[in-house]
Amino acid sequence: MEVYSTILVDRDASTAVLKINRESKLNALSTETLSELSHALDVLAKDSSVRGIIITGTGSKAFIAGADIQEFVGMNGEDAAQLAARGQRDVMDKIENYPKPVIAAINGFALGGGLELALSAHIRVASSTAKLGLPEVSLGLIPGYGGTQRLPQLVGKGKAFEMIMTGDMIGAEEALGYGLVNHVVEGAGLLGKCMELLGRIYLRSPKAIAKVISAVNAGFVDSKTGFQQEISLFGASFDTDEAKEGIEAFLEKRKPNF
Ligand code: COA
Repeated sequence: MEVYSTILVDRDASTAVLKINRESKLNALSTETLSELSHALDVLAKDSSVRGIIITGTGSKAFIAGADIQEFVGMNGEDAAQLAARGQRDVMDKIENYPKPVIAAINGFALGGGLELALSAHIRVASSTAKLGLPEVSLGLIPGYGGTQRLPQLVGKGKAFEMIMTGDMIGAEEALGYGLVNHVVEGAGLLGKCMELLGRIYLRSPKAIAKVISAVNAGFVDSKTGFQQEISLFGASFDTDEAKEGIEAFLEKRKPNF
């Protein structure tokens, strides 16, 4: 396996644990991180000894605190739409359609693009201290990595609207009640729980599991136009004064004035 600069890949006989490794930036997804994740997923897909994948963040504070807001500075609508399209195609869609089970081990903040990545995984397990949300509207933006489509699929339209419109975070137990995560465990047991779930899946036929992933996802293809609409509206949001104010406010550590 390659050596990456923003992710770590830990292997045992059957499972690869992909860890986003930008702890000082709360594991925010930079474009480099997206490229490295995409590459690692391709390599592991071809490795027949790998039966399943766990994605998590380094440290105990954050799973992924969103896309890297620093990279948004000065980005125009066209660039932003391209970024969203690339992130969706190379990472989020790849995870969703991965031919082996992918579990998101949500070890802390899962915000914005971080929650969107977790939503793309087949199963989500959260530590009891995790906080989940789509706070893009506080930046004058909208989710761009599939959150407007996959969150309603999991929790229903009403709860999804509430989460996306308020931009508020919810805790792990509330997320469990929403059906947003499958299990909540105490921090130290998080990876163990994911391994235990994968161990049960590994008892079953790998070819049948790949077919299940394909069949379940086939039921959601109607939302393709929804994903396209999200990309174009995400791009359009970058060409507003509100996005400029929201991004500046975050970087200046103050509240935005909308
Ligand atoms: N992009 C870039 N940098 C980020 C980031 C992101 N999404 N999230 C956190 N960081 C950085 C902070 O800028 C800070 O960097 P600094 O130490 O160089 O100033 C560092 O990570 C620690 O974050 P900080 O905000 O100081 O931690 P906190 O405990 O006070 O707050 C959060 C934690 C998660 C509530 C807060 O970081 C946050 O709101 N992050 C952005 C979430 C977001 O809007 N995501 C969606 C993006 S589209």
